Amino acid sequence: MNSQELVDTARTLVAADKGLLAMDESNPTCNRRFAKLGIPQTVESRRVYRELIVTTPGLGDFISGAILYDETIRQQTTAGLPFGKILTAAGIIPGIKVDTGAKELAAHPGEKITEGLDGLRDRLKEYFQMGARFAKWRAVMAIGEGLPSCSGLEANAHALARYAALSQEAGLVPVVEPEVLMEGDHSLERCREVTEEVLRTVFNQLNSQRVLLEGMLLKPNMVLPGLTCPTQASVDAVADITVKSLWRTVPAAVPGIVFLSGGQSAELASARLNMMNLRFKSQLPWALAFSFARAIQQPALEIWRGNAANMLAAQQALLHRAQCNCAARRGEYTAAMEQVQV
Ligand code: 13P
Repeated sequence: MNSQELVDTARTLVAADKGLLAMDESNPTCNRRFAKLGIPQTVESRRVYRELIVTTPGLGDFISGAILYDETIRQQTTAGLPFGKILTAAGIIPGIKVDTGAKELAAHPGEKITEGLDGLRDRLKEYFQMGARFAKWRAVMAIGEGLPSCSGLEANAHALARYAALSQEAGLVPVVEPEVLMEGDHSLERCREVTEEVLRTVFNQLNSQRVLLEGMLLKPNMVLPGLTCPTQASVDAVADITVKSLWRTVPAAVPGIVFLSGGQSAELASARLNMMNLRFKSQLPWALAFSFARAIQQPALEIWRGNAANMLAAQQALLHRAQCNCAARRGEYTAAMEQVQV
């Protein structure tokens, strides 16, 4: 393991106010999103859609890294160029999702455990050879009556730490993603409590598995009330409580925090990230950036709908979201940006 390369890659991923584009939906997830818009759920449609994304002109001005899925990292453009090569040429570091999905956790009704550790060392080697320089693993935690349990949390945190250590051994920066889900009627305060507990447990495990904190990124949820909570929170309140929770739990050695969007609207995700940076950026030890999938892609996907005639408009919408989120990193995002497309 070359520690300096890991540190350099991690820093590059959050440099220059850029962020990550998550385009690593598994086939079932991608197909579900396609089905909602009447797009055929085939290998070829997924390839064409991912080609649309990676060939968006100017994407590298706002995006530092793109997270691919196993199918996608092996695919090529219509002209025969591997997606990884296209990204690298655009100044975007290719990354890869390496977990194999969340399954029911035995003896823990309502909780899941993310799988994928078996054979991971060999898969990481192959991904490195294919040009990937960072690797993502997502654990999911639902909030409910008595959930998440301590044992469920520990199992997921342990898996995250084992994957992170293996990734660093292979020269890939781990993007450690413990996601507290938005589903439910829990309050903002309850989400704060659970998020802090999750992050404490995750960093305990990362430390005991000897993960180099300077050579990783954290990909957490923002602290939000449940989707069906009767009291929703203002952008200011979300920014305050999220930063406070991160301050309490994330070591200063971690170079960057790249939020997932988790089903927030694209505009809200940008507005909340913006407020955090506007209020706190100068006081924070780590960069506050983004690693959104839906909050960058969804508007573009809705324009494209599988129709080649919509490709340029979809690319423009994708670029616009990337640009809005870069502005949010500087605390310069405004609602007016939504009126004027790039
Ligand atoms: P969302 O931004 O859509 O939550 O996706 C991020 C991600 O990578 C999920 O694993």
